[in-house]
Amino acid sequence: METQLISTGFRYSTLPRSYVRPEPDRPKLSEVADYYNAPIIDLGYGDRNFIVQQIAEACQQYGFFQVINHGVSREVVEKMLEVANQFFNLPTEEKMKLYSNDPSKTTRLSTSSNLQKEKIHNWRDYLRLHCYPLDKYAKEWPINPPSFKEIVGNYCTEIRQLGLRLQEAISESLGLDKDYINTTLGEQGQHMAVNYYPMCPEPELTYGLPAHTDPNTLTILLQDMQVTGLQLLKDGKWLSVKPFPNAFVVNIGDQLQVLSNSKYKSTWHRAVVNAHTPRISVASFLCPSNTAVIKAPKELIEDESEAIYKDFNYAEYYDKFWSRNLDQGHSSDSSSISSFKAFIMAVLEGHKKEATEILGV
Ligand code: OGA
Ligand code: NI
Repeated sequence: METQLISTGFRYSTLPRSYVRPEPDRPKLSEVADYYNAPIIDLGYGDRNFIVQQIAEACQQYGFFQVINHGVSREVVEKMLEVANQFFNLPTEEKMKLYSNDPSKTTRLSTSSNLQKEKIHNWRDYLRLHCYPLDKYAKEWPINPPSFKEIVGNYCTEIRQLGLRLQEAISESLGLDKDYINTTLGEQGQHMAVNYYPMCPEPELTYGLPAHTDPNTLTILLQDMQVTGLQLLKDGKWLSVKPFPNAFVVNIGDQLQVLSNSKYKSTWHRAVVNAHTPRISVASFLCPSNTAVIKAPKELIEDESEAIYKDFNYAEYYDKFWSRNLDQGHSSDSSSISSFKAFIMAVLEGHKKEATEILGV
């Protein structure tokens, strides 16, 4: 198989055609506003009510927030970024040992988003790892760099603690019992995408990751401190989230949008690339157990007959997510909205009848 990886050290002078987006679908970087005041929540300051209140506001208004004093040690974070960088700088032959385009593989290196399905590729390589339970999956992880397993294992363990704590606070912020989310979602899965965005010769013409919402419950993103790239959609405008020292960016995934009966939104976001510096990000995803039934609790449904999602289980949702293009349905041409995205939108917008018809069940 010819490698499609772009982290090969090769310096492209023009963007290969298969990465070029049509005019209406380009990032229009000059129109993107800098966003310095993304809500920053200090988890080590103030009483519990104050923290919960800030989380409630951020989730309602943005579906995104940043956390500092989050309890994940600085050393663990620094080492994570360093080992990620070392990994992507390994010789291509070494990396190719882990290469696969099969989304069902629990450890794999790949490129773009969904190579088999998509028409236009994205300027990204990524290492995708399942992380929980650690003993089960770490065996499959890269053996090179030699410190990879230990460093990433420590990082995943600390991130999981943070994620579960955040879900407690999010439960409370919805007026639910502290343990509601963690109990309802069962034994939660944890995955990681270590994203590497090489320097791009023509960043105006393509994406690292096109606009998408995350299909899971909660995402905790470690952004490269030196390089911006993450953007989120707020009131129809793209905002660039400036890296903040020692912060994680947290966002609500589709499952929490459903669970919160749309009180909290799974916000559209994307990653853009640049011509000068490679960028790394480490996304950790918490996911419901496969059999967890996702629905809003009755406390959050004002009128029983209205605004209720079709109940579905997570495995069903996730399989469908991987069977399409990442950004299908987010084109300016509304006729290209796929039936899948229409289904998701119908579910997420609470149109139970429509969703049922689209799915044909
Ligand atoms: C993701 C993601 C953003 C980034 O991996 O789902 O949205 O900045 N990443 O890499
Ligand atoms: Ni994402």
